[in-house]
Amino acid sequence: MKDSRFAPLNDWLAPGAVLFLFVLLFSFTSCGTSGSEEAPATAEESSTADTVQVRSYGETPDGSATLFTLRNVNGMEVDVTNYGGIITAIRVPDNRGAMGDVVLGFADVKGYLGEHPYFGALIGRYGNRIGGGVFTLDGTTYELDRNDGDNALHGGPKGFHRQLYEAKTINPEAGVRGVSLRRVSPDGEEGYPGNLDHTVRYLLTDENELRIEYEATTDAPTVVNLTNHAYFNLGNQPTILEHELMIEAERFTPVDEGLIPTGELKNVAGTPFDFREPHAIGARIGEENEQLELGLGYDHNFVLDRKTDYALERVATLYAPSSGRFMEVLTTEPGLQFYSGNFLDGSLTGKDGKSYEKRSALCLETQHWPDSPNQPDFPSTELRPGETYRSTTVYRFSVR
Ligand code: BGC
Repeated sequence: MKDSRFAPLNDWLAPGAVLFLFVLLFSFTSCGTSGSEEAPATAEESSTADTVQVRSYGETPDGSATLFTLRNVNGMEVDVTNYGGIITAIRVPDNRGAMGDVVLGFADVKGYLGEHPYFGALIGRYGNRIGGGVFTLDGTTYELDRNDGDNALHGGPKGFHRQLYEAKTINPEAGVRGVSLRRVSPDGEEGYPGNLDHTVRYLLTDENELRIEYEATTDAPTVVNLTNHAYFNLGNQPTILEHELMIEAERFTPVDEGLIPTGELKNVAGTPFDFREPHAIGARIGEENEQLELGLGYDHNFVLDRKTDYALERVATLYAPSSGRFMEVLTTEPGLQFYSGNFLDGSLTGKDGKSYEKRSALCLETQHWPDSPNQPDFPSTELRPGETYRSTTVYRFSVR
């Protein structure tokens, strides 16, 4: 399958040219983990509309973390920390105008230092599973740090979700504000080859869109698959079973017992995996179905039906009847992992003292398909010196 991720800059600029130029020319105001000198730094200033607020978020083994609150003219807010590129909160209104936080997470950085299932995190160097924790590239076999039985999951035990990033604020201008995080993942980190210089920009627009832009280059052949692992619950119910989900996918990648794709692309027609029309998640999750049994629910990669290869397109929608909140997912990626929070078990207590029960939230992870480095027929995740990896995902919020 043709992979045009490494298209010339002009191709990539087309949909986001104005935004990109704006970011490049006007927005970078400071370096280091303490954020922008121009960004307000006190709690009082944080109440002002349209800001990037910067504050200390506590200590990590690698240094002090910072929390950035992006706020748009509608009062929508996104909190992001440079520890693990984690989105710690997304506050959006329901259909009566009441603001609510729609993602799982912890109240402070300490929560994220402990064991947790990647709440809100930046995932890399390879999002999702690599079977057997091993792959061969240009004749060399790379052994990865295994952290999911025999497999490598989400970049390994100290993946990007546990790294501290250099941060720059992108101050409000032309309806956009944000934060840019950068780090070089050293050659050999978690077993992956090549120094990977990567940047992730979190941008909040006045259209209530959280836009995440990923970019990476390498000095040796490697594999890359970056995503975000936000756990969403848009409603006022303890589980996401009422949520109505639509995914533009005619096929998905069935898995084996280790949740590694078998290599088959299976048609969704006539199965509980057919989300081409919106369906309540709870409606079919309990059906007798081998794939639902293997995943303990939905935990599968959907093969997105793309109108244009690797253009930014709407691929999924999520609606919570209890709140009227509606979220659209747009991406340049060929796949979407829909994970229905099956492994949440109430053992973790998050913000507001809430314990996170089974299926209390779901993930819609935009990505290349799992185990691609071992699946020659899947779109390639290889990145070579001289190429630039680029990927964009937008979560757009509104009400009905
Ligand atoms: C995976 C799940 C996993 C979860 C948390 C998801 O992306 O698909 O299998 O349990 O992440 O690690």
